[in-house]
Amino acid sequence: MDAIDVIRVKRDGGTLTPGQIDWAVDAYTRGAIAEEQMAALAMAILLNGMTRPEVARWTDAMIRSGERMDWSALDRPTTDKHSTGGVGDKITLPLAPVVAACGAAVPQLSGRGLGHTGGTLDKLESIPGWRATLSTEEMLGVLAEAGAVVCAAGGGLAPADRKLYALRDVTGTVESIPLIASSIMSKKIAEGTGALVLDVKVGSGAFMKTVPDARELAETMVAIGTDHGVRTVALLTAMDRPLGDAVGNAVEVAESVEVLAGGGPSDVVELTVTLAREMLAAAGVSGKDPADALRDGTAMDVWRRMISAQGGDPSAPLPAAAETHQVLAPSSGVLTRLDAYGVGVAAWRLGAGRARKEDPVSSGAGVVCHAKPGDRVTAGQPLLTLHADDEARFARALESLDGAFEVSEGGTADRHPLVIERIA
Ligand code: URA
Repeated sequence: MDAIDVIRVKRDGGTLTPGQIDWAVDAYTRGAIAEEQMAALAMAILLNGMTRPEVARWTDAMIRSGERMDWSALDRPTTDKHSTGGVGDKITLPLAPVVAACGAAVPQLSGRGLGHTGGTLDKLESIPGWRATLSTEEMLGVLAEAGAVVCAAGGGLAPADRKLYALRDVTGTVESIPLIASSIMSKKIAEGTGALVLDVKVGSGAFMKTVPDARELAETMVAIGTDHGVRTVALLTAMDRPLGDAVGNAVEVAESVEVLAGGGPSDVVELTVTLAREMLAAAGVSGKDPADALRDGTAMDVWRRMISAQGGDPSAPLPAAAETHQVLAPSSGVLTRLDAYGVGVAAWRLGAGRARKEDPVSSGAGVVCHAKPGDRVTAGQPLLTLHADDEARFARALESLDGAFEVSEGGTADRHPLVIERIA
């Protein structure tokens, strides 16, 4: 087979055969297709799309490019959640312990942040001593000890996706629904979970800006999961404003611990409980309700065991940034808009995120919101507190907040409901 023939089929709007897909993914993983040829194929896919059978086969080929994990030795069903990424999305931190406290096992492979969206591993690494990299045996040990484990994916899992994602990142080919769906689902299916809940974010701070695009992505992923025997459900959830009050790393860990202690912002609590119920139902586990696990301290017990089992000290003080700067309400009225993208870029520029994969992140940097859309505010009251290790970072962060919020006398907030739609 020849790479140019495969590229021409997609370039001309045709449909790839299963044989062409298997060959292209395998040859690319082995280095037999050049980076520029795969870049051309990815661009042709972005422009001309893929049929559902093509996406399914492409995902299959990416799964077969590496190892598949197996949790059948565990004495309870496995269930996992994947979020397509957003601003202030710390939900994995309270969610994994809550679900484990209700009786399912949660083996979660997570990622790092890139650009304006944060990464779960970066957040957890702000806990002194906590380790993201575990062997499969260590993962099993943490699961046995705590019921939940959150760690980095090893290099053997869907290596085709690892290579292709890095290429898409630098060739303007990330924003393709078939490529996003196959990338996410190849890793989640290879991870070996029995059930999966997809949190597909919609709004300015998300990959998917509109409900129809998010629905298309969710339906594609649910079909792929179901075809592979993974019980898969998707929720479309709001990412037009930040989730919770804290956006950053240590500040999000602190907020998650508040939720585990039975408090915390109501949107974070609501989404944690909703996703936990979906994860338990998909795994066929009934009994304890997630809201009770937050109230009675059992989720907090799992969190402390999970963090300790990965070398972290759950009682240690979290790192704090050296400098703070307050953004004040310009007038009195209703906060009608607090744009997730603007706040996410501000947190990134303050040092909470990275521009390149190899960049370090600041644990203490971020933004804390003191009001949410719909709240009444008074002129001069703090709206946001910016945290950074170096005050030179405030000017650029403030630029990204220019136009990111609006206070209007007599106005009302125009926003998505937190949970927009369920797709099963
Ligand atoms: N996350 C992934 O893992 N892959 C994509 O393509 C986009 C987001």
